[in-house]
Amino acid sequence: MYSKDGNMKDVKTPRICDVVWHNGEFINWNDARVHVMSHVLHYGSSIFEGIRCYSTTEGPAVFRLREHMQRFLNSAKIYRMDHPWTLDDLCSATVDLIRRSGMDQCYIRPILFRSLDEAHPAFGVNPFPNPLACYIGAWDWGKYLGDEAIEQGVDVCVSTWNRLTPNSMPAMAKSGANYMNSQLIKMEALLNGFAEGIALDDRGYVSEGSGENIFLVTGDVVLTPPLSSSILPGITRDSVIQICQELGITVKERTIQRAALYVADELFFSGTAAEITPIRSVDRIAVGQGGRGSITEKIQKVFFEITKGERPAPGKWLTYVNETKSAPTDHNGYTPAKVRDDSDTTPILSFQTAAKD
Ligand SMILES: Cc1ncc(COP(=O)(O)O)c(C=O)c1O
Repeated sequence: MYSKDGNMKDVKTPRICDVVWHNGEFINWNDARVHVMSHVLHYGSSIFEGIRCYSTTEGPAVFRLREHMQRFLNSAKIYRMDHPWTLDDLCSATVDLIRRSGMDQCYIRPILFRSLDEAHPAFGVNPFPNPLACYIGAWDWGKYLGDEAIEQGVDVCVSTWNRLTPNSMPAMAKSGANYMNSQLIKMEALLNGFAEGIALDDRGYVSEGSGENIFLVTGDVVLTPPLSSSILPGITRDSVIQICQELGITVKERTIQRAALYVADELFFSGTAAEITPIRSVDRIAVGQGGRGSITEKIQKVFFEITKGERPAPGKWLTYVNETKSAPTDHNGYTPAKVRDDSDTTPILSFQTAAKD
């Protein structure tokens, strides 16, 4: 449970990679800075990703790297960010960064944003005159919703804040500005003593957490809101759907009413940071027996076995950093490396793979 003042740290960051990839070169962490009059700081003009690299017996392995970078490219396209980076460039840069970091596991944060051309400054809302800057950083990140959360589950509330409407801010783009909405949801939850908030969409149906997708288990059926409920098309969500299908568990995309949360047998969040985190209460109403349910545990177990490289995934989900060939970098910094193409290249929009009826 979180303190009511909302100041409690909810993350552990034991280590930060001391280099950052910037527009094709590696620079020192301390040099990765922007001007305070950059467009992004005033108008929220950024898109980003959150990716995890797991420790395996064959060294660090990035989970669904190509899918994350494809979503990054999709977000950039939606916001008309005309940049030169290809999927392969971004994947290679990530692998090189992890190799340079020497970290066995980490969280990776690519970001593309509108900055400031100091020679020809532009300060208006119109983003086009502002140059784009692309960075990738990495740090070691602990369990997002707390160490015990994975087993014990978390206490959450339904937020008074709604998720974005589809024709105001597109939830399917992972833009920095969307996270102002997420911050309202998160702050309200923390200040009221909850670990996380669940937002409803503008029609009143369940959408998602401030940084996670949500799943509901009723009997032996697993349900999750569709993309039309203003959710981010989560890569972990897609992984859960595919894991359920492999385990023979029925999984469906359905609009979900708020009240269904209170009578669900099990609930859990999915997300890169949160991984698979059980929800043990909503608005102080116990979910099922008030702890992690058996179907959640089964899915969680398979998910963690896959991320540790201990079990084959339904697709080629791991990019092994040590097995991925990298061209040598020279003093100018970045030379694109060839990433072993071992990821599932299914287009991101095929994420609606769950059965519908
Ligand atoms: C709002 C929101 N929804 C869902 C997710 C889960 O997406 P993913 O599984 O791709 O990390 C995230 C995390 O990135 C998020 O911020």
